[in-house]
Amino acid sequence: MAVVSDRLRDKVVLLTGGTGGLGVEIAHRLAGEDARVVVTDLDVARCRETVRTLAVPDRHDAHSLDVTCEVSWTTVISAIEDRYGALHALVNNAAIGSVATVENESMQTWDRVIGVGQTGTWLGMKHAGPLIERSGGGSIVNMCSILGTVGGIGNSVAYAAAKGAVRTMTKNAALHWAKSGVRVNSLHPGFIGTPQLLERWEGSERHREMLAGTPMGRLGRVEEIAAAVAFLAGDDSTFVTGSEIYADGGWTAA
Ligand SMILES: NC(=O)c1ccc[n+]([C@@H]2O[C@H](COP(=O)([O-])OP(=O)(O)OC[C@H]3O[C@@H](n4cnc5c(N)ncnc54)[C@H](O)[C@@H]3O)[C@@H](O)[C@H]2O)c1
Repeated sequence: MAVVSDRLRDKVVLLTGGTGGLGVEIAHRLAGEDARVVVTDLDVARCRETVRTLAVPDRHDAHSLDVTCEVSWTTVISAIEDRYGALHALVNNAAIGSVATVENESMQTWDRVIGVGQTGTWLGMKHAGPLIERSGGGSIVNMCSILGTVGGIGNSVAYAAAKGAVRTMTKNAALHWAKSGVRVNSLHPGFIGTPQLLERWEGSERHREMLAGTPMGRLGRVEEIAAAVAFLAGDDSTFVTGSEIYADGGWTAA
């Protein structure tokens, strides 16, 4: 995709869940706009593989980061400070899902989904925010979902709880940092045709429900979400904070 401007040029961006379906595309989009991307995920070998495929791999970095672990965050933040001396954006992208309903979700899965999606997002803001502030300001993009706002198709209760918290934590943190130059926004994709999602659901009843609930009648494309991340992470959105952007083919308008 064509470079839109220099809104991300030389900005250091920390990306979590960077080897997943959306993460890889986001890393490519940011690197394509000349950002320096710190790709993180649970498996550092996969992070390195992703970095190898980016434009000018040496400008970027790869780290293992378990977003539920506070020490993991402090380790990666100090590695970023050592190498780059600054951080300009955090993309809190890691999350896990569960399709169980309010009646059949288990405690164990509930705790994991809330741990990664909700607590992980808070820890990211807690540890990256101060470095972004010391670096002259920047942006936190919290990956949310239509399920952070509406009921979807009546399942995924733990995921909806985590994403609902991401939506309101975003506004809370945006107000906290409003005068210190750290902007915080949530991005709410509808159903996106990542390779992982298609492999799991393509052709199923659930896939038909996703399409039927989307007024545009198709799944979103990974590059459509990466484009929204690039807008929020860079200098095209300098007056946008505490806001929520929907890239959902019209789902929440219906
Ligand atoms: N794909 C969609 O349709 C869709 C829709 C709405 C929102 N989202 C959101 O977009 C984000 C990315 O989704 P995706 O489709 O790429 O998912 P994905 O499952 O392909 O990728 C998620 C990544 O998070 C990583 N991860 C899991 N637990 C982790 C932990 N404890 N610490 C660090 N990383 C961890 C996984 O290893 C994986 O690489 C998520 O926040 C998801 O909720 C996705």
